[in-house]
Amino acid sequence: MKKTTDVLILGSGIAGLTLAIKTAEARPDLKISIVTKVEQGESNTKYAQGGVAAVWNHEADDFGKHIADTLDAGDGLCTEEVVKIVVEEGPTRVREIIDWGTRFDKSKETKDYNLGMEGGHSEYRILHYKDLTGWEIQRALMEKAKSLDNIDLYEHYFAINLLTPHNLGFNITRVTPNIDCYGAYILNKEDGDIITFLSKITVVATGGAGQIYRNTTNPVIATGDGIAMVYRANGRVESMEFVQFHPTALYNPAGENPDFLVSEAVRGYGAILRDIDGKEFMERYDPRKSLAPRDIVARAIDNEMKKSGAEHLYLDCTHLDKEGFYAHFPTIYDKCISLGIDPMKDYIPVTPACHYMCGGIKVDTKGRTTINRLYACGECTYTGLHGANRLASNSLLEAMVYAHRIHEDILNEVENFDIKHEIPDWDATGTMQPKEMVLITQSMKELKEIMSSYVGIVRSNVRIKRALDRLKLLFDETEDLYRSTTISPQLCELRNLISIGYLVTKSASMRRESRGLHFTTDYPENLNFIDVTIL
Ligand code: FAD
Ligand code: SIN
Repeated sequence: MKKTTDVLILGSGIAGLTLAIKTAEARPDLKISIVTKVEQGESNTKYAQGGVAAVWNHEADDFGKHIADTLDAGDGLCTEEVVKIVVEEGPTRVREIIDWGTRFDKSKETKDYNLGMEGGHSEYRILHYKDLTGWEIQRALMEKAKSLDNIDLYEHYFAINLLTPHNLGFNITRVTPNIDCYGAYILNKEDGDIITFLSKITVVATGGAGQIYRNTTNPVIATGDGIAMVYRANGRVESMEFVQFHPTALYNPAGENPDFLVSEAVRGYGAILRDIDGKEFMERYDPRKSLAPRDIVARAIDNEMKKSGAEHLYLDCTHLDKEGFYAHFPTIYDKCISLGIDPMKDYIPVTPACHYMCGGIKVDTKGRTTINRLYACGECTYTGLHGANRLASNSLLEAMVYAHRIHEDILNEVENFDIKHEIPDWDATGTMQPKEMVLITQSMKELKEIMSSYVGIVRSNVRIKRALDRLKLLFDETEDLYRSTTISPQLCELRNLISIGYLVTKSASMRRESRGLHFTTDYPENLNFIDVTIL
C-alpha cells in the first residue's frame, strides 16, 4: 500500500511538531504528514523538567556568556559557528512558542519570566513551567498542530526503514555519493500493514536512545530508531561516544523504567549533593561544586559510589523553603512523597542515569543530513552544538532553532523534487510470525547489561573490547531473526538499539583520550584528539 505527501516527518516531539507547524503555516498548499510510533504526546520532550536556556534578562546576561558556557561544557568539541547560531536565534524561537500558547512561570513581584539556574550556566537563564516544562511545550505544540488543516498526524505508525536507491536495486555503500531519500517504510501497528510512504522531503525527528542502558531517564520510546535508520541507509553519524548521564535520577530500589528525574534545577535552587555518609564532596572535584557541568558531577558521583560501594548518594533539600520548593517542583515533591521520602526532612537518594545522546545524525547548519532530500532535527542529530557534553537545557532550544532552519530550507527546496512512484512495496516473502517473543525480550536485557557494565560513565579498552564482542553475537542473532520473522515494533527497536550500542562502543574505542562525557582509564588525559568518524 502506498501513501504520498510533500513532507514526511518521523516523530512528534518538539523537533517534529515545531517543524510541521512552521512549514504548514508558511505553505498551506503543502501536505505535511507526521508519523509517530505511539500516541502523539509520548516523547522525551514531554518529560523535560528544568526548562529552556535562553538569554532573556539582558541586564545581567548576554549572548557571549551563554556561548562561553556552552563551549566550556562541550570541552573543546563544539562547533563555534553552531553555538553562536543556536544561542543568538534561540530567544526568537522561544518567543514563537510563547505566542503559540506555551506558558512559562513568571515572578509574582516583577511579572517577568522567572529564570532558573542549572549546572554549567553562569547566569539565571532557564525558562520553565514548574518542573513540567516539557509537558507544557508538548501540549501547546500539539494544540497548535491540530489547528492546521494541512498537517496529517498518524499515531501508532512505526517507521522501519528509509527508502533510497537501494530499494530500486542499486548497490549503495558508505562512500556512494548523492544518495537520495524517497520516504520510508512505515508499519501501521494497528493492522500490521507496511505502508510505502513516499515523500518529496523526509525529516527524521525521532529523538534519543537512552534505552540502550539499564538505567535511563528516557521513556521507552527512546530507542534510537532514526539514528539507526540513517546509519543503515549509509548516512553519516557522528560523536556517538558522548552519552550524557544525568547525575540525579531518583534511586528507587524497586526499579522503574524510565527512572524518575530529579531536575538539575533543584540544585540550581540550592540543593546540595552529599555522599552516603551525608558529607559534602563536590568541592574535591570542581569549584562550582553541585552546579558543575554534568559530565563532572556524574563522574564524581560514580567515583564516590564506587569508593563506598553504595548504590546511591544523596541530594539534600532540607534547608530549602517548603512553599517555594513545592511551587517550583510539585511533581518531584509528590513523587518523593509517594516513595515515603519527604524532601523537606529526608535526603533524596539519587544515582546517575543515561539521559541524553550528544552524538547522532550528522547535519549541517540547515539541518541537511549527508543523504539528499533527508533532514534531521532534535536529539537524534549531531549539529556540533553540544560537542563532548551538552549544557543543561540547551536541547529544547537546539530543536526549535533547527526546526526553523529546516523549514526555511524546505520552502526553497521542495519544488525541486518529485515523488518516486517506482519504489516497490515491502516484501515479506519467506517470513513467519515470531514464535518466541522471549528471544527479543532476553536480547534486550542482554544489550542493556552489556552497555551498562562496559560502556558506562567510566570505560577502558578491556571493557570496550568485551562489549564489542558481545554486541557482535547479539547483532548476528537479531539479524537472523529479522530475516526470518514478520516485522514487529519490538524486533525493530531491538535491532535499532543494537546498532546504537555498536555505534557508541565503536566510537568509544576510537577515541583514545578522555574528554567531556567520554572517560577511559587507559587514556585519562585530554589529548586534543578531535576527529572520530565511523565508516
Ligand atoms: P522526542 O521528544 O523524543 O520525540 C521523538 C518522537 O519520535 C516521539 O514522538 C517518538 O514517538 C517518535 N519516534 C521515535 N521513533 C519512531 C519511529 N520508529 N517511528 C515513528 N515515530 C518514532 N532538555 C532540555 O533542553 N531541557 C530540559 O529541561 C530537559 N529535561 C529532560 C528531562 C528528561 C526526563 C528527559 C528524558 C530529557 C530532558 N531533556 C531536556 C532533553 C529533551 O527533552 C530532549 O532532548 C528533547 O525533548 C528531544 O526532542 P525531540 O523532538 O528531538 O525528540
Ligand atoms: C533537568 O531538568 O535536570 C534536565 C535538564 C536537561 O536535561 O537539559
